[in-house]
Amino acid sequence: MSFVTTELQGAVAVLTIDRPKALNALNPEVLADLKAAFEGLDQNAVRCVVLTGAGDKSFVAGADIGAMSTMTKAEGEAFGKQGNDVFLMIESFPLPVIAAVNGFALGGGNELAMSCDIRLCADNALFGQPEVGLGITPGFGGTQRLGRLVGMGMAKQLVFSANNIKADEALRIGLVNAVYPQAELLENAVKLATKIARNAPIAVRNCKKAMNDGISLPIEKAVEVEEKLFGDCFETHDQVEGMGCFLSREKPKPRAVFTNN
Ligand code: CAA
Repeated sequence: MSFVTTELQGAVAVLTIDRPKALNALNPEVLADLKAAFEGLDQNAVRCVVLTGAGDKSFVAGADIGAMSTMTKAEGEAFGKQGNDVFLMIESFPLPVIAAVNGFALGGGNELAMSCDIRLCADNALFGQPEVGLGITPGFGGTQRLGRLVGMGMAKQLVFSANNIKADEALRIGLVNAVYPQAELLENAVKLATKIARNAPIAVRNCKKAMNDGISLPIEKAVEVEEKLFGDCFETHDQVEGMGCFLSREKPKPRAVFTNN
């Protein structure tokens, strides 16, 4: 039995963290299952991933407080590394990942959503980094990714105060891209994923890599990353077909299987 289920909808994989009795809190087993679920995806068939939580109450209510309550300093650091390694793997996963935040996204839950490329949420979603109220810092990337996403001033206010924010405020500060009624969230996330999945796969992957790799570099180096990945698209089937069909006014035939030629 895994704490993460995978459902394929065409070229979209919907991964669901399935531990609803604990509001999908992340313990070492859930983190290991999340890693295994991403690693188990067939990257020749899947073009975009949607990540959500089981039930209608919670995306992820954080790292597991029971599991953390008796940890030593060394165990705490190792648990932080486990979470960070999994979230870094998601952030640099070759395919786009959309978080469909269907309720609580607290602590490690907000941090997990932030390791995804795009965040959509339900109108009942609640975001926050409550860690300082528990005597710890955010430990799965929250002190680093929140400032990069919403700016350091707002990030420090949220982290230092441990205040939670609702969906409309998350939208206002740019933490999420859109808010939907709870019942319509998943279908909208899959709809966006399907739209992404229809685009040229090598180009979409190279866009993600260029944007991720370039963000931490000086602009002169960042555009070199882009040049390499831009050039890498040429002579691929999708580039030859996509441009040829534009010029001959035909509809390009979608490429069924990912391949670099
Ligand atoms: N860890 C472990 N169990 C959790 C949990 C968590 N983070 N969040 C919820 N649960 C469990 C509860 O213990 C409860 O279990 P039992 O039924 O066995 O008692 C069950 O989920 C349901 O929770 P509640 O009864 O509390 O539900 P509620 O609707 O009254 O409250 C809530 C919901 C506001 C989210 C509340 O559960 C809560 O505050 N949870 C903790 C949120 C939090 O502080 N998250 C940050 C954790 S620290 C972290 O994430 C560190 C990091 O960066 C790595």
